[in-house]
Amino acid sequence: MNRIVLPLALLLLIGGLSTLAFSQRPWAPRPDVEQPIPFSHRIHAGVNQIPCQYCHNLASRSSEPGIPPVSRCVGCHGNKIAGAPGSGIQPVTRAWTDHSQPPFEIRWNRVYTLPDFVRFTHRPHIFEGIACQTCHGPVQTMDRVVPVVEINMGFCIDCHTQRHASLDCVSCHH
Ligand code: HEC
Ligand code: HEC
Ligand code: HEC
Ligand code: HEC
Ligand code: HEC
Repeated sequence: MNRIVLPLALLLLIGGLSTLAFSQRPWAPRPDVEQPIPFSHRIHAGVNQIPCQYCHNLASRSSEPGIPPVSRCVGCHGNKIAGAPGSGIQPVTRAWTDHSQPPFEIRWNRVYTLPDFVRFTHRPHIFEGIACQTCHGPVQTMDRVVPVVEINMGFCIDCHTQRHASLDCVSCHH
């Protein structure tokens, strides 16, 4: 009896531990990120159709698309072109326009991350015409950015295989 139960228990334990280790993936995109200001992609990129790269203008030029600086928001919100008075953005943009206090940046929280041992840059992907939504989902419908596509090694490899892009371990790993 023990001859079967013991190995079985061990197997279950090992199985359990490794799913735990994998499911914990500390770098996985987080669905629960709250921002200091309730910035809505639905209002900006959806309803008002502001192109993604108007704000994330570094996507095609640098390794990271970057989060736009407040000065980009001020262009529309500083002169009250957009946004009701008293909305979340006003206290931030005011400092930029009336110089009553030193301007400050908004500290946005990160949704997407990759582990340090992965090398990823946006540029080649944007250059190949891959839509942001392929990896980030329909961001233009989201009031709060939540990951919908699971970005893991299989996801990268699947597309690289289809598109004949590099499958070399070292192109994605340091
Ligand atoms: C008006 C400016 C603006 C536009 C237009 C815009 N974004 Fe953003 N985006 C932001 C700001 C500000 C943040 C940081 C706050 C947040 O996560 O909501 C952000 C965050 C993101 C994030 C999450 C980054 C992270 O890991 O934390 C993704 C992904 C993203 N944007 C994709 C897009 C896509 C795709 C589009 C076009 C459909 C788009 N954005 C259009 C301003 C903009
Ligand atoms: C091939 C998949 C893919 C495509 C296409 C893609 N992204 Fe990303 N994006 C990622 C991954 C993966 C990360 C996390 C990168 C990291 O942590 O190093 C990320 C991170 C980001 C971030 C946060 C990083 C930062 O610079 O602060 C923003 C913003 C973003 N993407 C916006 C965009 C926009 C806008 C587009 C389209 C112009 C786009 N992405 C296209 C996969 C993609
Ligand atoms: C190209 C112009 C443009 C840019 C750039 C822009 N916005 Fe907006 N924003 C709008 C418009 C248009 C609305 C919708 C206003 C409305 O419906 O009254 C809006 C609405 C908002 C709202 C909701 C306002 C309310 O009345 O509650 C917030 C918050 C906001 N934006 C924050 C930001 C932040 C933060 C940035 C910079 C990352 C930014 N916006 C950049 C045009 C812009
Ligand atoms: C939807 C398709 C698609 C997805 C998803 C995708 N890639 Fe790519 N990737 C490409 C294409 C196409 C190229 C450009 C190949 C070329 O220039 O020959 C590329 C290029 C690259 C390059 C540059 C390779 C080189 O040799 O210069 C790296 C690094 C890379 N991808 C990493 C990643 C990582 C990491 C992920 C997952 C987080 C990912 N990619 C997801 C399609 C994709
Ligand atoms: C196209 C990009 C890409 C290529 C090519 C690639 N990897 Fe990965 N790899 C990733 C990404 C992204 C992750 C992060 C995985 C996650 O978040 O699940 C990863 C994770 C890993 C891990 C950590 C285990 C895990 O799943 O969490 C190992 C080990 C690994 N890769 C080995 C390899 C080896 C060996 C090769 C070559 C045969 C390779 N990778 C090729 C993108 C790639």
